[in-house]
Amino acid sequence: MLQTKFPESFLWGGATAANQLEGGSNVDGKGLSVSDVYIFDENISKERWADQWHMMTHRQVEEAQDPSSEKYYPKRNGIEFYRHYKEDIALFAEMGFKCYRMSLAWTRIFPNGDELEPNEAGLEFYDRVFDELNKYGIEPVVSLSHYEMPLHLATEYGGWINRKVIDYYVRFATTVFKRYKDKVKYWMTFNEINCVKHHPYVSLGVIEENHPHIEQAKYQGAHHQFVASALATKACKESNPEAKVGCMISYQLLVPYSCDPDDIQATVEKQRESLFFSDVQARGYYPNYTARMFAEKNVVLKTEPEDEKIIREFPVDFVSFSYYMSSAVSAHPEKLEGAVGNLITGGIKNPYLPTSDWGWQIDPKGLRTALNQLYDRYQKPLFVAENGLGAMDVLEEGDIIEDDYRISYLRDHIKQIKEAIIDGVDVFGYTSWGCIDMISASTNQMSKRYGYIYVDQDDMGRGTKRRIKKKSFEWYKNVIATNGEQLD
Ligand code: BG6
Repeated sequence: MLQTKFPESFLWGGATAANQLEGGSNVDGKGLSVSDVYIFDENISKERWADQWHMMTHRQVEEAQDPSSEKYYPKRNGIEFYRHYKEDIALFAEMGFKCYRMSLAWTRIFPNGDELEPNEAGLEFYDRVFDELNKYGIEPVVSLSHYEMPLHLATEYGGWINRKVIDYYVRFATTVFKRYKDKVKYWMTFNEINCVKHHPYVSLGVIEENHPHIEQAKYQGAHHQFVASALATKACKESNPEAKVGCMISYQLLVPYSCDPDDIQATVEKQRESLFFSDVQARGYYPNYTARMFAEKNVVLKTEPEDEKIIREFPVDFVSFSYYMSSAVSAHPEKLEGAVGNLITGGIKNPYLPTSDWGWQIDPKGLRTALNQLYDRYQKPLFVAENGLGAMDVLEEGDIIEDDYRISYLRDHIKQIKEAIIDGVDVFGYTSWGCIDMISASTNQMSKRYGYIYVDQDDMGRGTKRRIKKKSFEWYKNVIATNGEQLD
């Protein structure tokens, strides 16, 4: 039957991540995470802000652990959701959120990652958050790991390249599945798992300097995450057979720059490199093309006999993804202008698309294509876990923030989700990114804002932390109230 509307049960909401939002990094026993060591420095040129996101050095990590360091580490403070969570959730409820995508700080529960027993104070914090959400009938959608593994596992064990980390992750996962089995139904195992390719430090706890053959390290770490994800899915079902577990990838629609057959082949290969991760997690096995891909990269995985079985037996229930932009691919990029702000894959500037202030190529129709491609490929329910516009907002007198550019970006993307629903795609939720302003993952800025709710805080953490509704707040409230029927 032709579906022409968003389903009644559609999960509208917003998304955040603990490391960018919570703060409270030195209270109630929390340990340091890999994200807590990134600095923000006003004196470094804007173009260089995201460098550390791509590659972290030993020296930077050590300096960050020195208590006398005077540098500013924004993710240790976030926007102090740890103290403000009731007020923030009340605002989400006022917008009518049906769900809230959030992540757990692994380091709040296992501060170093290798402890035998969890930190009760950390578990209690999330009890309070889930209870608060439940009070308003907001369904939590929870990522276990969103760029915040314990720093200790990176420095002492070498991160995910070490097989022991699987056990620590599964202990963490099992602890929270048991504890929150009556409070959380939707889980995601790893945020943007395919980004291990682009930023192995924050995704895998792998410091590139240690690995002359970095491709080998990335895929070995990813293999361990696949095994860990499957074991976690098994543990989740044992705690609550009704719970749903999803994978989460960064989906950047890739299109050939031209109809040159070389561009088309280059696009197919790049897309496979990215979808390889969800292929394994959604289908439960390594696809055939992996053999050639690994041979060409000179990657030889070290596996255990039981790995294949566990990955096959416990694929994910649903596929979720972030979608911000699309990118053109050329077999001859040296002749063309690059999409400069495109942090994830590089890529070529698409002359048909506008860009955000950070150079991300805005392509709403690409979201419809993405949904169709993923559904054709997996035939599993889809969830749009992130989408949004990072912009410099202006707070005007009288607490006014006219963010029409954000409304327009979101409206154009939501329209395309509806088109995909009419196409027959099974998509059950949408959580726009950064429903409340928080620290940028890649640049560590506060001024790269995505929210419906403004937070009075600057790039160096100065400000009152006051929460202020933007124009988009009322707009999104109406979108949810009309179940996506009124978008203007
Ligand atoms: C996604 C991440 O890649 O993009 C988020 O899952 C991140 O953590 C979001 O915040 C937007 O990126 P940025 O760098 O603008 O914060």
